[in-house]
Amino acid sequence: MATVYVTRQLHFSAAHRLHCDKLDPQTNIKIYGMCNNPRGHGHNYDLEVTVRGEPDPLTGMVIDLKELKEIVAREVIDQVDHRYLNEDVDFLRGVVPTAENLAVAFWRILQDKFPGAELYEIKLYETPRNMAVYRGE
Ligand code: NI
Repeated sequence: MATVYVTRQLHFSAAHRLHCDKLDPQTNIKIYGMCNNPRGHGHNYDLEVTVRGEPDPLTGMVIDLKELKEIVAREVIDQVDHRYLNEDVDFLRGVVPTAENLAVAFWRILQDKFPGAELYEIKLYETPRNMAVYRGE
């Protein structure tokens, strides 16, 4: 049999501010720079969700990509799109909304959601050049 990896890309836009309450203001500015500006800033995120499994002998599919898209849209995109990530999203409370932390949070939500396929990787592009990858380790 063959294990095949299947990826769907989805998009969302959101605002955030990088700020850690446990650090003093000067340290926050030193670490996060302009990303610590009080009123936040926005990103156009691209989220790539990869699952793996064996293609069904009849359909040839690991998972119906339309179904994969609908699950990620419902569970993640609808919760974060056009929101202020520091305050508006229940599952991000108390988390500094870096790409790293978002990738982990999205993994935890999506981990058990795909029938017949196993979540393999969350890849989150914060910009075309900056991305974080999480594989549940
Ligand atoms: Ni940012």
